[in-house]
Amino acid sequence: MDFKKEIINLLKKEKIPIELLQAPPNPEMGDYALPCFPLAKQLKKSPVEIAKTLQPKFKAKFLEKVEANGPYLNFYINKEIYNKTIIESKTKKNKINKSIVIDFSSPNVMKPFGLAHLRSTMIGNSIHLLHKHLGYKVIRVNHLGDWGTQFGKMIYAYLEWGNPKDIEKEPIKNMLKLYVKYHKEAEKDSSLDDKARKIFADLESGNKKYRSLWKKFRDLSLKEYDKTYKRLNVSFDSFSGEAFYEPMLKDTISLLKKNKLLEESEGALIVNLDKYNLAPCLIQKSDGATIYATRDIAAAIYRKKEYNFHKNIYVTDNRQNLHFQQFFKVLELAKLSWAKDCIHIPFGIMKFNDGIMSTRKGKVIFLEEVLDKSVDKVKKIIKEKNPKLKNKDKIAEQIGIGAIIFWDLSHDRVKDIQFEWDLILDFSGETGPYIQYTYARASSILRKAKNKSKPSYEKLTNPKEAELIKLISDFESTIENAAQQYKPSVLAKYLLSIAQRFNEFYQSCPVLNEEDKSLAKARLNLISKTREILKEGLSLLAISTPEEM
Ligand code: ARG
Repeated sequence: MDFKKEIINLLKKEKIPIELLQAPPNPEMGDYALPCFPLAKQLKKSPVEIAKTLQPKFKAKFLEKVEANGPYLNFYINKEIYNKTIIESKTKKNKINKSIVIDFSSPNVMKPFGLAHLRSTMIGNSIHLLHKHLGYKVIRVNHLGDWGTQFGKMIYAYLEWGNPKDIEKEPIKNMLKLYVKYHKEAEKDSSLDDKARKIFADLESGNKKYRSLWKKFRDLSLKEYDKTYKRLNVSFDSFSGEAFYEPMLKDTISLLKKNKLLEESEGALIVNLDKYNLAPCLIQKSDGATIYATRDIAAAIYRKKEYNFHKNIYVTDNRQNLHFQQFFKVLELAKLSWAKDCIHIPFGIMKFNDGIMSTRKGKVIFLEEVLDKSVDKVKKIIKEKNPKLKNKDKIAEQIGIGAIIFWDLSHDRVKDIQFEWDLILDFSGETGPYIQYTYARASSILRKAKNKSKPSYEKLTNPKEAELIKLISDFESTIENAAQQYKPSVLAKYLLSIAQRFNEFYQSCPVLNEEDKSLAKARLNLISKTREILKEGLSLLAISTPEEM
């Protein structure tokens, strides 16, 4: 039951403009208030008189009382009904008949899964979960960087210096080694680049041997990424990457030609975007090779046909802002009416200041190492704080990984963020572990309680209870907000407030030692509802909730 909506319905019956309804500045003035000044002219009465005449017209079971207070009409909602409604509410499942495509994570194969890809993965996944919760059909696309001249280089390096066994065992580390070696050698011998370019050209025209090596490198990379995705609780509906769109590029270029968008510039084909204050969008290089933007144009057209999306969303770091502006503009100029439904969701850079993770030359950040380090640190904390805990390893994994995800998602995505272990893992700070800990605490109280009484919700009058209940009532609208702004941080911050309010409530309101059993039962049900919100909320950030920690 939405009380505001109910009051609005009553206002409509009296033909009172509903936008007048306000939340009063303090609870003594009721839960909602109607100022009567704006009605004076029309009704030709003083606001005080209007309030008095309206007062007896508002009657409903959920209204404790309606009071005329000077020029205001104040509505007081029955506390028992209010509390019961919120505490016992069930989340309803909507279904919206619209598809949303989210392109996220999208690492470049043969290379380590970088931090930008980590952020894209977590932010994109949460945006997917939020929309799914709201009832949309969501299609998760991993637009792998699996095409381009780097394959010519890698195939050359592999055939020249590669060892199949090493590559199978630790694909990405060893491919990276080959890549580095290639660049070192190419500095000495410039003929290598021509050879690599030739190999890539042959690959593009269908050379079988090269094609099978391409597939091998791609498959091995994916297999390794898959471990990371499992740990992060992420999966995809499609892994169609850049290579998938190769066969569609001819048609894409024809479409641009048909719309008279292409210009020749030093042998290359471009779309001139001067008019829009944007650098030209390069479509085809002078050697005939197509590029990233061309494949993105083809991919967007394919996605519209295949999924008939309502929104087509891309999650990448803000260094790609220009790229998305350019190619969205090209879609618009090609008269594709749905160009306006393509949305780039940019995010800031994640910065590390940690010995093993510096980006110093030659040192690459391996995400697996970051995750392992986090889990190890949590293991140490558990050993100190709760050595008897069962399933230590599994729980440490849930906390260690949850901590990193939460740290990322609790910051406004557009800002750069600094990665600091002590802050990320602080069990009493504004962190994932703090919320998980609060969840475990709620679970533990509920396990201990043996109370079969009937709850008396009207007894929940402590301000700490009222604040928590009010905050709980904002859960669904918070999710809508977070989804609308494509900002998981809105939900993350909300969950922090819930955890903080809950802990304040639990400090001032006894539960297991409360003598009044019907009050204790109402409090237990409030705890159970809070626990449910924490679980559901964290699950929308892809963070798990151990029952004990
Ligand atoms: N592979 C790209 C990169 O790592 C990200 C791809 C994003 N998606 C897209 N459709 N352009 O920078």
